[in-house]
Amino acid sequence: MSSLMPGKQQHTPNTLRSGLGLLNWATNIFTTSVGSKLLVAITGILLSGFVIIHLIGNLKLFGGPDKINAYAEFLKELGPLLWAARIALLTVLLIHLTLVIRLKSRSAWARPQGYYYTKTIQASQSSRTMLMTGIVIFLFILFHLAHYTFGLIEKKEVTDPVTGATVMKNYTELKDAKGRHDVYQMVIHGFTSPVISIFYLLCQLVLMVHLSHGLQSVFQTLGLNSPRIQPTIYWIAHLIALLIVLGNSAIVVAVLFGYVK
Ligand code: HEM
Repeated sequence: MSSLMPGKQQHTPNTLRSGLGLLNWATNIFTTSVGSKLLVAITGILLSGFVIIHLIGNLKLFGGPDKINAYAEFLKELGPLLWAARIALLTVLLIHLTLVIRLKSRSAWARPQGYYYTKTIQASQSSRTMLMTGIVIFLFILFHLAHYTFGLIEKKEVTDPVTGATVMKNYTELKDAKGRHDVYQMVIHGFTSPVISIFYLLCQLVLMVHLSHGLQSVFQTLGLNSPRIQPTIYWIAHLIALLIVLGNSAIVVAVLFGYVK
């Protein structure tokens, strides 16, 4: 009887409330657990898409300075479009983070007594792993932006072609012979430091754990999971995560060991 009472239904957070209009729909998506999980899955797919596109762009490093610097110049020339993409990416990342933290605190609030069943314990460990690895990846992104986007971590000694004096330059100020931002030199210089390279490689391991768990959850949230196809989903998720992490690590290792210089 009680579950049919309208007053009770209003306080049930894990079902989509019916309602008319875009505003109601958007409110439902953001305020219910089902809607939040769906958004976490969709934003997770978008972020994984960014990581794949970013990797494909970075692999141009193996094609030599001209390839990757031309690619960086092409992106820069997109102007307002590039800024729109950056703002969209930041929004997607913030939605993903905020909803995960809110879902996690909601489930902790709803279950103060602890667990009785192994399956629930496993699900909880998995979500705790996702939260911890997610936080590490977020901190990695902050470091990565400081490193390569803002050039705040290290400076490089450059000889001024006019005065002959040695000046310390921020990575982001490096220019190639065509006057373009020298992303090639920037990445080479960045990964010749073993401490920074090892830090990047460790973060790749964390990214591997996060992506392989996360991609499996995406299939589950989108209802694309069943006991029959579970092993296939497991392998697909691990394969995608492995390829991304191997690609990123190949860049770091190639520079660190001087295969690319
Ligand atoms: C080890 C492999 C990686 C390399 C070599 C690399 C390289 C770079 C470089 C050179 C830039 C600056 C581009 C420019 O200013 O022209 C950059 C920006 C960025 N990277 Fe990475 N990256 C790597 C991995 C990652 C990963 C794993 C993520 C995310 C989890 C990531 C997220 C970003 C973001 C968000 C930006 C800023 C994009 C923008 O402002 O346009 N990167 N990366």
